[in-house]
Amino acid sequence: MNQQAKFPPRQLKKLNRKLNSSNKSLTSKTEHLTKAFAEIRRLNKSLEEQIKNKSLELNIAMKELNTVYTVSREVISTLDVQEVFSLIAKTVCAIINTKACILRMIDRDKKCMTIVSSHGISAKYIDNTPLKIGEGLSGIVATTGKPIACPQVTKEESVKYSYYINGEGYQSALGVPIVFNNEILGTIVTYDNSMRNYTKVEVMLLSTFASQIAVAIKNAQLHTKVHLNYLDTVNALALAMEARDPYTHGHAERVTAYAIEIARVESLSKKQVQLIQNCGKLHDVGKIAIADSILRKPGPLTENERSLIQLHPVKGVQMLAPLKFLEQGFPLIQYHHERFDGEGYPQGLKKTDTPVIARIFACADAFDAMTSDRPYRSKLTCKQAVIELEKNAGTQFDPYLVKKFISILQRKNIKLK
Ligand SMILES: [Fe+2]
Repeated sequence: MNQQAKFPPRQLKKLNRKLNSSNKSLTSKTEHLTKAFAEIRRLNKSLEEQIKNKSLELNIAMKELNTVYTVSREVISTLDVQEVFSLIAKTVCAIINTKACILRMIDRDKKCMTIVSSHGISAKYIDNTPLKIGEGLSGIVATTGKPIACPQVTKEESVKYSYYINGEGYQSALGVPIVFNNEILGTIVTYDNSMRNYTKVEVMLLSTFASQIAVAIKNAQLHTKVHLNYLDTVNALALAMEARDPYTHGHAERVTAYAIEIARVESLSKKQVQLIQNCGKLHDVGKIAIADSILRKPGPLTENERSLIQLHPVKGVQMLAPLKFLEQGFPLIQYHHERFDGEGYPQGLKKTDTPVIARIFACADAFDAMTSDRPYRSKLTCKQAVIELEKNAGTQFDPYLVKKFISILQRKNIKLK
């Protein structure tokens, strides 16, 4: 039996129309599907790119985070508070790739934010931008405990000295708090010379660094406190020792004052002047270890007694050895009895082999000793002491420094003629 017999022409036409309609619908759906596939391919490609970019960002962030931890470890291992502050200011710019940084610590007594270190900022700015707690970018960060990013400092009300910071050449800022055990210690504010939108990763990096260095600051502060307590004890011992003997009372303080004047005329660095200030008063601290019967003996000393006294510079340094922050001043204590001709003690150093702070101190020490009474002789007049200094210039003392010292005494109107 053939098809025509099975489907009459009318029914066949109807079926044909149905088939055509289904065909059309199928074509339309295929077009839709093709479009959908194309969209999926496009989205896939975009997603791949996004994943690739995020992965790159993550890699950079990981590298930066590693830098933060490495730098933090270096800062934490430093025990000098000021050194810690300076290291922080320098390294912040390297971590966030900025140009300047100011570190302010909260001074709760004075209710202000004190600048303790900076990088890339002029002294004029430092001197002229005081901030109270709660004031300016740093003060607000210190009060809220939250980071603030300013893409353009001149458009931010929170930046009190935006005009000055602009004058320093900076356009944008990022500030984060330094928090230790829920206590806000201070702030780090870093500046860049371009307008800049700081990313979440950058804010996170600086915040992480700030929390790491908070430990370093506390650690160094504690260390300094322990050292200062030790120094107070040693100073008290030195003063008590000096007070036992009316002949040496006030000697260390006077010698230190003379030595500082010579150092300033000689344009020694602030650091060296500070070393004289700290160690000068302790130059004879080693005498604590010498028996009173020898130290206060009115008559001439035996050879053995003299050699015992001559141990005091070395003993002094041994006593102060735990105070690492005084370390650079130890040569003053160890070599203040060296002579220019090499006949001094403990090492017999010659001429400029003796560090300058010790050569300066030797002149000042001898002058004050000569102009003070001793159990075995009366004091000399200033004029007589100056003659002695001149007589021994080139043998006992550095002749150049003797001249400088005498010119200082003359300027002070001390009767030398
Ligand atoms: Fe001495």
